[in-house]
Amino acid sequence: MKQYKIAVLAGDGIGPEIMKQALKVLKVVEERNDVEFNLMPASFGACAYFEKGKSLPQETLDICDNADTILKGTIGLSHEETLKIPVEERPERGALLPLRKRYNTYANFRPVSLPIGLSHFSPLKQEVIGDGIEIMMIRELVGGLYFGEKERGTSKDGKRWVKEALEYDEDQIKKILKVAFETAMKRKKVLHNIHKSNVLMSSILWNEILEEMSSDYPQVQIQHVLVDAASTALCLNPSQFDVMVMENMFGDILSDQGGGILGSLGLMPSACIGDEKSYFEPSHGSAPDIAGKNIANPYAMVGSVAMMLDMEMGLTEESRNVWAAMQSVFSRGFTTPDLSGSGDDKKIISTDDFGDLIIEELKS
Ligand code: NAD
Ligand code: IPM
Ligand code: MN
Repeated sequence: MKQYKIAVLAGDGIGPEIMKQALKVLKVVEERNDVEFNLMPASFGACAYFEKGKSLPQETLDICDNADTILKGTIGLSHEETLKIPVEERPERGALLPLRKRYNTYANFRPVSLPIGLSHFSPLKQEVIGDGIEIMMIRELVGGLYFGEKERGTSKDGKRWVKEALEYDEDQIKKILKVAFETAMKRKKVLHNIHKSNVLMSSILWNEILEEMSSDYPQVQIQHVLVDAASTALCLNPSQFDVMVMENMFGDILSDQGGGILGSLGLMPSACIGDEKSYFEPSHGSAPDIAGKNIANPYAMVGSVAMMLDMEMGLTEESRNVWAAMQSVFSRGFTTPDLSGSGDDKKIISTDDFGDLIIEELKS
């Protein structure tokens, strides 16, 4: 029997509500496969700060260090509530970025996937969606502006200034581009490189390295797109994209736009892959505006479980079953409130109901 120790970081806001659904799914997977999950819950984010004074407490680090993999919900508070926490302990800076850095989870896979059966959720016109949207955004996750040097000061004339650096070294760029080329090889062999080389030195180096590496992947057709133009193209003609690769900040922004073209951030799962340890989380945040109401969409969270089953555990068949179960729930006419446009006749369900229906589909 294969055993996995999974650190479970439910986090803040809607995190615990959607994590509950993820754990229900794991239980079913465990019941019917030769696999055992040892779940190790740990406090992470603003909740940890209020409870223990640290948004990433030592006990949580110990649990994550000891785990085979990590399943994370969401962290963060509303803008106003965030101000109650000292800057360095705010959950994004104090917990999430250190988690990414500690395990060097450099490759962030953010699928923007709209099977044709879900196309009514998208705000895009049917003729733009065509046969559906199937993009894999690959975001570099441990470099760039997020982790570059930061400085703040006041000039002699009393003016405040700030400086933060977009830093990459060539090994970091090679690592993420290798992942991108290899992903493209497994898919349509088309790679969209998203950059800003008309302004940024970092993009010039990035593109130079991409050019050098391209001879190892002669079958991959590379398309260069400036990041600003890419954001328009995502709305006007998303089906031109298959695999997209980009630096950290571009990936943060474009992947949320991915949620927009699907119809909700609640449809955006993700996998954060490192060489030794990986973790899995929805791309969206803690949605403080709807937290505690049992109305959050658990699709991105459960989709992150599906990515974990496939990418971490090789349970590819069960991963497919989970995707199929979630899509069946939608095709039966059920929807969470984030996806219910006015005037349609969908049956609106709660977070818990969605979880139960996924289980029902999985077992059927
Ligand atoms: P958000 O992603 O939390 O929410 C944006 C909008 O999308 C909100 O209207 C929200 O209700 C909706 N939404 C998001 N996920 C949803 C879901 N599963 N079901 C239904 N609706 C959903 O972004 P925000 O409001 O800008 O940020 C809130 C907090 O989350 C901030 O503190 C931010 O730093 C943090 N954040 C955390 C993560 C993470 O944990 N990885 C990611 C992004 C943002
Ligand atoms: C995401 C989030 C994080 C990011 C924040 C919460 C630090 O927006 O995972 O997309 O910017 O990477
Ligand atoms: Mn983001």
